[in-house]
Amino acid sequence: MIEVLAPAEAVQAAPELAEVFVSAFGAPGYDEDRADAERFATEQLPVHAERDDFKLVAARSDGRIVGFAYGFTGQRGQWWPDRVAAAVPAELAEEWVGGHFEVVELAVAVEAQRQGLGTALMEALMTDLPHRKALLSTYVDDRPAPRLYQRMGWRVLVPDLGWGSALYGLDRAMP
Ligand SMILES: CC(C)(COP(=O)(O)OP(=O)(O)OC[C@H]1O[C@@H](n2cnc3c(N)ncnc32)[C@H](O)[C@@H]1OP(=O)(O)O)[C@@H](O)C(=O)NCCC(=O)NCCS
Repeated sequence: MIEVLAPAEAVQAAPELAEVFVSAFGAPGYDEDRADAERFATEQLPVHAERDDFKLVAARSDGRIVGFAYGFTGQRGQWWPDRVAAAVPAELAEEWVGGHFEVVELAVAVEAQRQGLGTALMEALMTDLPHRKALLSTYVDDRPAPRLYQRMGWRVLVPDLGWGSALYGLDRAMP
């Protein structure tokens, strides 16, 4: 039910992924709109698909993509790692930022939520990665995504980076 899409396949599937994006992030309390989904599909995803170790996993139901997660190796010099490194204590940046696996998106269409797909997608995404450290940012408040990450062993590195996002890290060498 969960498959890994090669970078070119992921870009090809962008319109379908955008529909999942709209459903997940367009829900009340998330409030991203179709223009955000379009930007994701036409600007963000094609750029990220070129990054080192890009990996996208998709969940299908009746042949249709209903959820996805993706990431790649984040490096200093890229926008997000540099922004994070500037916002956190130097030792934390030194230890975590650069060469980490960066989880960029996780989304499950509203009608497919609360059946374990989000958890299964994150498990599939993180399986067989060579990285010791992984990073992501998520909501500061209590909602499904932060709960899911914490259940899966991610820990809060910085509760609020200053722009309403918390920084989470996973040290994969830890038991
Ligand atoms: C975060 C998100 C991807 C989770 O997807 P999901 O498929 O619902 O994830 P899961 O089903 O694995 O777990 C979600 C909840 O359903 C519960 N659940 C899982 N299977 C269940 C089942 N069979 N019956 C009842 N509840 C179940 C889980 O315990 C979890 O509960 P909690 O929220 O109270 O902690 C989804 O909510 C989403 O797309 N949110 C909007 C976008 C977003 O926040 N993305 C992350 C950005 S950082």
